[in-house]
Amino acid sequence: MKTLKIDTPSCRSVIYCGRGAFEERAPLLKGQQLFVVTDSNVNALYSDLILNTFGQVPVYVLPAGERSKNLTKLKEILTAMLTAGVTRSCTVVAFGGGVVGDIAGLAAALYMRGVRLVQIPTTLLAQVDSSVGGKTAVDFGGVKNAVGTFYQPGEVIVDPRFLSTLPIREIKCGLGEIVKYGALNGAILDRLTACSDIFDLSFLEGITYDCIAHKARVVEADERDEGGARATLNVGHTTGHAFELYYKRLSHGQFVLIGMYYELYLAQRSGCCEGAYADVLRDLIARVLGRVPAPVDAAEAAARARYDKKNEQNTRVTMIVPVGRGQTQKLTLPVARYCALIGECAAAIKEKAK
Ligand code: NAD
Ligand code: GLY
Repeated sequence: MKTLKIDTPSCRSVIYCGRGAFEERAPLLKGQQLFVVTDSNVNALYSDLILNTFGQVPVYVLPAGERSKNLTKLKEILTAMLTAGVTRSCTVVAFGGGVVGDIAGLAAALYMRGVRLVQIPTTLLAQVDSSVGGKTAVDFGGVKNAVGTFYQPGEVIVDPRFLSTLPIREIKCGLGEIVKYGALNGAILDRLTACSDIFDLSFLEGITYDCIAHKARVVEADERDEGGARATLNVGHTTGHAFELYYKRLSHGQFVLIGMYYELYLAQRSGCCEGAYADVLRDLIARVLGRVPAPVDAAEAAARARYDKKNEQNTRVTMIVPVGRGQTQKLTLPVARYCALIGECAAAIKEKAK
């Protein structure tokens, strides 16, 4: 097990990462006033582990899936905390994937103006990305993560033991964010391109630490996503989020890869990314996704990108695009141009599929 610290103006987060992290750290929480949030799938697999590790503590079980990341469920969690008589000295334990982490984190931030938060991520995506860095949110009004706050977990326990029960779809989802880190960090890119089986669990275990270490430095530099450093973590997300809310069928990380595929096209057509480098990333995307699916109505879906939080005006779409090894840049396009290029890329995908 390795330890990483994130020091920000608001908090010190300690991340315990690696095999054995759960056995070593989680039992230390027993005896504290805990409120566990998990989801129905995770509960079905790990309710005994939760009981044996934490004892008889209140557990709120969210229906699994992105559709639970909303204000109604947030209110239910807060109500369950009140009903359980939870006080300000309580610790909220987010035990699950990114959906659980995001909504439980927001509940922890709001309840009695903030109680301690421990993240125990159980999906690859949550381990490499969402459990670290303190972004909490629910979706609102058809916009992803429209309501939320920054609230750092005091502790994050990242144990690869949970990956053994993850369906392949969720491994692909986590790989979406890992390939994103590859676009941000040359050393991670090299490890990915050199690996013959990026689905191998021991490979994923090692690269998880590298991704968290990368994110830790970014969060320390720009905790509240104001200085530009943290925005780099959104490679692929502007278009990915727009498609995600429109189509819903695939996982978040798969949409990040699809978003990155389209945004590489936009970057090339805008003259800021060389074809050879774009091909390296496209090759990685293909290793995870196989073929990039051609959406039915790309321009319509992409129109949602105008509501992305990075946009200063909703007549323009701002993305962070890869431009070279370990390098990204901001690319802003008028909505009409953005939609036209997305449509072009979709047509090219359809043509290739024939
Ligand atoms: P998720 O939480 O919905 O989990 C995916 C699926 O895996 C669910 O069905 C869940 O029940 C199941 N699952 C979880 N752990 C399991 C395990 N160990 N074994 C078997 N099944 C398991 O989705 P996710 O991909 O973990 O997270 C996606 C969410 O994270 C999105 O809402 C996204 O917006 C958010 N996100 C947040 C940040 C952030 O910085 N806060 C970053 C990236 C993504
Ligand atoms: N996943 C993006 C961020 O944490 O900023």
